[in-house]
Amino acid sequence: MKFLEIIRNRRSVRRFSDKKVPPFLVKKIIEAGTFAPTNCNQQLWNFVVITDGAIKERLVRDAASSTIILRAPVVIAVLYDGWNYKEAIQGGSLALQNMLLASTYYGVGCLSMNSYGADTVIKKILKIPDNQTICCFMLLGYPDKIYKNTSAVPRREIVEVLHNNYFVERAGYQTFNSYNPENWSLKSLREFQKYYCRKTFLGKEMDILHSVEKSVVQNSIKILNGRVLDFFSYDGTYVDLFPANALVTTTDLCSETAEYTKTAVKGKNCFAKFENFNVYDESVDSFGIYDSSTLIYKAERLPRTVLKRVLLQSYNSLRGGGEILIISRRNNILFMIFYHLIKLLFGDDTRKTGIYAFFGPYKPLDSFLVRKYLMIAGFSKVKMTNYCFIPPFFEQAYQMFLQFRKSEGSTYLHRVPIVTPVTRFLSWIIRIQGLRKSIFGSIIVIRAVKK
Ligand SMILES: Cc1cc2nc3c(=O)[nH]c(=O)nc-3n(C[C@H](O)[C@H](O)[C@H](O)COP(=O)(O)O)c2cc1C
Repeated sequence: MKFLEIIRNRRSVRRFSDKKVPPFLVKKIIEAGTFAPTNCNQQLWNFVVITDGAIKERLVRDAASSTIILRAPVVIAVLYDGWNYKEAIQGGSLALQNMLLASTYYGVGCLSMNSYGADTVIKKILKIPDNQTICCFMLLGYPDKIYKNTSAVPRREIVEVLHNNYFVERAGYQTFNSYNPENWSLKSLREFQKYYCRKTFLGKEMDILHSVEKSVVQNSIKILNGRVLDFFSYDGTYVDLFPANALVTTTDLCSETAEYTKTAVKGKNCFAKFENFNVYDESVDSFGIYDSSTLIYKAERLPRTVLKRVLLQSYNSLRGGGEILIISRRNNILFMIFYHLIKLLFGDDTRKTGIYAFFGPYKPLDSFLVRKYLMIAGFSKVKMTNYCFIPPFFEQAYQMFLQFRKSEGSTYLHRVPIVTPVTRFLSWIIRIQGLRKSIFGSIIVIRAVKK
């Protein structure tokens, strides 16, 4: 491969075949790392190559490393002398990039991995001295066959990131992180999803939907019949819940998320047939003629202007007597305390907690506002039912917190679940609660009919 081809062909691989990576290749890849520049030519890096399954198990169990490392034949801890943190990260990262490119050149799949877990525990397990900084982990292995048809991750246009002489603020990119949908525009939502959704492989469920939240969906959509228009299916978490009598068209905010939905439908055992995987167009009045439309766990994540527009378009896309179904987490007292507490503790930045960060913003819904918007759009017979006083999501939120603590501040996905008396209690109480209706519930199902 030519040099620029290697750069373009490198991509993160997270699933590997059983084929072993020969040790001489691992050495060659690390050798490529040692040709990177370092501060004052000190070359103070070290590379710990882990192939022993028992050590990987310990990393996952004791250091809360991501379980992805169990799938990789070779795991490399990239270290650099930590006397100066900045130099350590610079030195380690430049070596790592050389290694990623060398792996690509040799046809070996690779991943740079930050979610390796708790530094202090890893240092104990791998006997790494205290003066070393763990810069990153790198996984190596031959790619699984799913990568044959995987499209590359989109890249930002150069005009977007290039500044001449002075930094220029670019409109629409500043408000990426707030929990409050009102601080987002449709453009910033699209931009965020375009890149963020591809942080992992196609077909992966990125949203965190509790099984009880899924049951609410299943119960509510089982009566759907005929042509259904589903808004913002995103990662297709619930596509397999649509009933056999439904013929579904999905619409997503950008082509990247539409591809996720399509891949999810292909990969799951869906009862319903899926007609089209469209990209949402805010400028059109109607998307065709449908028997029903659905907005599932998304109303709480849209700026009001967008929500209003979607409801109007939905109205125009339904036949007379057609029904809209909205399922959403609503602003019950427990959810609101949680929402404000998270912002208070971690700041108004969804990336810091990762909670519901995948779609973009998130704020439990004001259902009276939705009723108002539905009426404005022309809907009648608005019916609202609330479920689950205790948000089922609390079970996951607590697990996230435990993982966050155990991994010393790393992210929480792909971890071995931590079981404590509190997690057992939460799980028990949420199971007992089941799908109990309550006017103070945390999940709302709204139905409305087109006159
Ligand atoms: C420093 C660094 C740490 C990363 N950590 C993780 C990780 O912990 N888990 C993971 O699945 N991917 C991780 N990635 C991979 C990114 O998600 C990936 O690079 C990004 O989605 C772009 O895709 P590409 O590598 O295929 O171009 C990491 C990437 C970098 C550069």
